[in-house]
Amino acid sequence: MSPRRPRVAPRVLVPALVAFAFLASALYVVIDAAGEDTPVPPQPAAVALFVASFSEPLDGDWSVTGPLIAEAAGDTDGEVLTLRSPAGALVEAGEASHRLPEPPWAVSLDLRLDPGSQARMLIGAGPRTLRLRSVGGGVELQMAGKRQLVPPAPGWPSSPWHHVELSGGRDIRVSVDGGETTFPVAARRTLGLGAEGGPVFVDNLLASPLSDPRGLLLHRLAALHARTPAGSFPLGTGRDGELRLTEGWTTGFWPGSLWQAADLTRGSDLFRDWALEASVANLGDERADTHDLGFKYELSSVAAHRRVCRPSVQGGDEYEPADESTCGRLQASGSKAARRLSTLIRSNREAGTLPTRAGPGCTGCSSDGESDTIIDSAMNLPLLLWAARTEEKPEYRAAATRAARRLAALLVRRNGSTGQSVHFRRRTGAVALRHTHQGLSARSTWARGQAWAVHGFTQLGDQLEDPRLLRVAERAAGFVARYLPADAVPRYDYAAPDAAPRDTSAGVITAAGLLRLGIVCREAATCRETEKWTLLGRRMLRESLRAVEQAPLGFFGNQVQTLGGRTSWDDDGELIFGLHYALEAIRLADGTGA
Ligand code: GLY
Repeated sequence: MSPRRPRVAPRVLVPALVAFAFLASALYVVIDAAGEDTPVPPQPAAVALFVASFSEPLDGDWSVTGPLIAEAAGDTDGEVLTLRSPAGALVEAGEASHRLPEPPWAVSLDLRLDPGSQARMLIGAGPRTLRLRSVGGGVELQMAGKRQLVPPAPGWPSSPWHHVELSGGRDIRVSVDGGETTFPVAARRTLGLGAEGGPVFVDNLLASPLSDPRGLLLHRLAALHARTPAGSFPLGTGRDGELRLTEGWTTGFWPGSLWQAADLTRGSDLFRDWALEASVANLGDERADTHDLGFKYELSSVAAHRRVCRPSVQGGDEYEPADESTCGRLQASGSKAARRLSTLIRSNREAGTLPTRAGPGCTGCSSDGESDTIIDSAMNLPLLLWAARTEEKPEYRAAATRAARRLAALLVRRNGSTGQSVHFRRRTGAVALRHTHQGLSARSTWARGQAWAVHGFTQLGDQLEDPRLLRVAERAAGFVARYLPADAVPRYDYAAPDAAPRDTSAGVITAAGLLRLGIVCREAATCRETEKWTLLGRRMLRESLRAVEQAPLGFFGNQVQTLGGRTSWDDDGELIFGLHYALEAIRLADGTGA
């Protein structure tokens, strides 16, 4: 099996996801209509996104014509769609076809082309057929009299499986393993698939309207899945097209994004299986000396456990349950990581906060007796609250409450802006230093830190039912409302000039936090505002999603990790946490997120 194949094979074929399309179109209407945020009645879905994992026989939405055998499930390469001519057929023709959204549409799929076989894709309205065959060094494409060899983009793994992206409108753009070309042929409304010369295998098919950022982000995850070796974790992709992998604080966002995608495509096992596979691959680092265990395991082990291990509790009955042993490992993972967080808090007992690490050697610390606490810890504490609830450990709740209140007192300023970092002398708890790791200065407001504050204090206030912490979240949200640039996408620091790099990850994290705050405030009588946060969250989401590109499908750039100067790839690249929170915010905006 090639390293690019999923280790857990998809099991269910999912045709038109009408519910998704309906919700997506409702959201589109609400947030995109002439920039207005006024709710309008949901419109019937004009188009359908569909996802096919080919693990069950083709359903009635597919039609198979001509002398073609099209079989899903259990063929030579596992659970995929196999296309071949019947033995002895004189003519190689026929197609397995499925309706597409109205052009312009976006389609992506994985395709295996063995030597001697050629795939036919019927996608054109005039000349209909795109032919693809594997030749040394790439895939040869042929359509409307044009023949072109497309080599893979640098860095794509060599494999018999190819990742194909198509966007079809007035012409058709075809990308294979990151290399691309365009054919001057108008797109048709159905996708036909056929094979010549030998069998062709198709897997992981997605189709969506080209203008819909939600669908585009799903295509993007499928492209990252095709490129990321099994058991590895994407960090991000630069404008140079290079994919960077990570073992650090961001590993949980890969399974996290895939769980968000699974929730957006309920009923399909495609993203569910990838997400579970990535969550299991992420196990094993729970005893690391870092506060980032919250990011690493809440979005991964705990997210997986909620969905596939406790079906009756979290509405996870739409997911195929995981086996008992996997569930035990996921639960133990969340539990171990939470225990580690409580150890970190104990190491900083006098200060009462969650430090970045328990041992010596924190970044920027001047001695081993110093600890660092950063605003991001608002996002790590909720893991402790999960363990407090599931393991009935009131001491975890007490520790998280104290740490959250101390964090708010030390790093959230009166006007709602945030500092990034405060150092303590561990022995006394006295403040030794305030500074920034990624912002402009100790006194400025690093935009992602502000986003972590809005999102984190909303979760903490909600889960602890603490009106004071909810007030902190509202203060942080109020600062965003007052100082957000006119284009509604934060610069990497709120004190940076308009010409400084925009940070769409800060944009979507803040949007997700604001949308959550709006939901929580609708329930809590103690908030000062409600609708204001929802409207601001929608606006920030809409404006940040404008950065989602159509080529490659769903590339979500303009994210800043650590501003390293104009030469660094992550000054305006695509980062996995931006993808995660974009999808979370989309779900919160369309009412399917919790
Ligand atoms: N939590 C580290 C960062 O946001 O860069």
